Amino acid sequence: MLSREAAAFFDRLAGDWDCIAVHPRERVESVLAPLGDLAGRRVLDVGSGTGVLLPYLSARVGPSGRVLALDLAPRMIEESRRKHRAPNLAFEVADFLDWRSDEAFDALVAYSCFPHFDDPGAFWDSAARNLAPGGLALVAHIEGRERINAMHGKRAPGVSRLLPPAFELARLAEARGFEPLEATDEAERYLVLARRK
Ligand SMILES: C[S@@+](CC[C@H](N)C(=O)[O-])C[C@H]1O[C@@H](n2cnc3c(N)ncnc32)[C@H](O)[C@@H]1O
Repeated sequence: MLSREAAAFFDRLAGDWDCIAVHPRERVESVLAPLGDLAGRRVLDVGSGTGVLLPYLSARVGPSGRVLALDLAPRMIEESRRKHRAPNLAFEVADFLDWRSDEAFDALVAYSCFPHFDDPGAFWDSAARNLAPGGLALVAHIEGRERINAMHGKRAPGVSRLLPPAFELARLAEARGFEPLEATDEAERYLVLARRK
């Protein structure tokens, strides 16, 4: 199972993660923009890691919204909890692929983590299970697919799969009960946005 190995791999990296990965503000904001207005919404950050997205999501949902940071690796969540404190943030350690929330979310983001999921179909099934009808699911990277696949081949073999072409992932979402809204496969941006029917 990729999940078990991924948890151990990311637990080992948790302390250094923020020095390893760089996320320029304007590029992060540009991949989040398709989610539109999130004020007052319940948003799930899947594979949240040390919480690079949390300041952006916390600000976007505002005081009446809520963001749940979910990750498989306990140490990633531990680091994240230490760094990010806001009344609208909560944290949970869980494998998203078999997770079932008590509440339905309005949007979820899987930022820079999709290749580490064991089973792309199970990702969309969990997204469908945990989103409210009409809820948005966004899979996003601020680098292009070729670069991500080359990098994972070198640095994360055994804990990553190839990122598929965006249109293929959108098609899979459609087969799992989503309406695809955007599929972008560019040199510096990979994005699949779909709405739960
Ligand atoms: C490359 S890191 C990205 C973390 C963060 N999104 C960022 O951009 O810094 C991928 C994260 O996905 C998490 N992950 C992998 N498989 C997962 C799963 N099945 N459920 C939840 N989190 C998972 C890993 O533990 C890791 O923290």
